[in-house]
Amino acid sequence: MAETNLRILLRARPEGAVRPEHFEVSEGPPPTPRPGEALLRNRYLSLDPYMRGRMSAAKSYATPVAIGAVMEGQTVAQVAEDPTGRFQPGDWVLGGTGWQRFSAVPAAGLRKLDPTMAPVTTALGVLGMPGTTAWVGTTEIIAPRPGETVVVSAASGAVGGVAGQIAKRMGARVVGIAGGPEKCAFVRDELGFPECVDHRAPDFPERLGAACPDGIDGYFENVGGAVQTAIFPRLNDFARVAFCGMVAEYNDHPPKPGPNLMQVVRQRLKLQGFIVSDHPRAFQTWPRTGAAWLKDGSLRYREDVTKGLENAPEAFIGLLAGRNFGKLIIEIG
Ligand SMILES: NC(=O)c1ccc[n+]([C@@H]2O[C@H](COP(=O)([O-])OP(=O)(O)OC[C@H]3O[C@@H](n4cnc5c(N)ncnc54)[C@H](OP(=O)(O)O)[C@@H]3O)[C@@H](O)[C@H]2O)c1
Repeated sequence: MAETNLRILLRARPEGAVRPEHFEVSEGPPPTPRPGEALLRNRYLSLDPYMRGRMSAAKSYATPVAIGAVMEGQTVAQVAEDPTGRFQPGDWVLGGTGWQRFSAVPAAGLRKLDPTMAPVTTALGVLGMPGTTAWVGTTEIIAPRPGETVVVSAASGAVGGVAGQIAKRMGARVVGIAGGPEKCAFVRDELGFPECVDHRAPDFPERLGAACPDGIDGYFENVGGAVQTAIFPRLNDFARVAFCGMVAEYNDHPPKPGPNLMQVVRQRLKLQGFIVSDHPRAFQTWPRTGAAWLKDGSLRYREDVTKGLENAPEAFIGLLAGRNFGKLIIEIG
């Protein structure tokens, strides 16, 4: 029996929390490749916080997913057929699209993966877009000097885990922030951050202060919300903040009003937002650098793999609530 294309569509735009009914599971025939396209069997789907933005019609740096369309997402796939002749059936590639079992995409835009060099899933996490994001924010915006204190939020996650390890290699004293004792223990013991503070602890601001006795020179912002509120009074003069994302606020409707920014003047702070896709060269530099560090064992990572495409909506809802532990990936099978 021919295989069907299982797909997860956007059924409705959430206002506030994302719920299962905002998605729809659909089955149909696999797509037929157009000239220049390859047919891919998607094996692993990356779930990322940016997808919350794609579900919303609010003004953003990217176009939202249309109602009734397949949810956007990057996949690691095996080539099913490639009429262009660039790839052989079974080749592993990065560049499939969508929360779906099959996709047809331009063959020229695919990157071949060598499964003997690193597990193919690393192309979605530590060596992929999240790792590259960590590289850009840490090296280009925070640019820590030896001995400085750098704080990283969502420190056990895909971006934060790598950002802290890069800052440590650059000589900074790195303090992670994560949700719960288990994640904090992982950040200290596995990722090698000297300190990690639990943002769920009732005395979190005091614990953060104790972990940063000399203040904070660099902050890699992944979450916003109450964590950001505790960070700002502890920033030193000339501190740099890399605004990568604010996942704690993505479900807010309407958005919270902004803070008073006089502190930026008083303390000559540098606050810079960034989107990793504006840094195409980093997508060359980081995978090479990170792969070498993975090979010599000095770069650590954790993946959180959920089996079954039909479970992607629940897993995504969990990501926005901090229930993932490491880079969240769906094994489509
Ligand atoms: N600018 C860019 O180009 C770019 C690219 C990629 C990612 N990002 C951003 O980077 C950030 C991290 O992404 P990721 O893929 O690495 O995700 P992740 O850290 O693997 O997962 C998200 C984590 O955020 C934390 N979180 C969720 N809700 C929270 C809340 N209410 N308060 C505090 N923490 C909360 C949770 O960790 P805890 O349990 O530890 O709190 C959760 O595990 C996101 O903001 C994302 O949008 C930006």
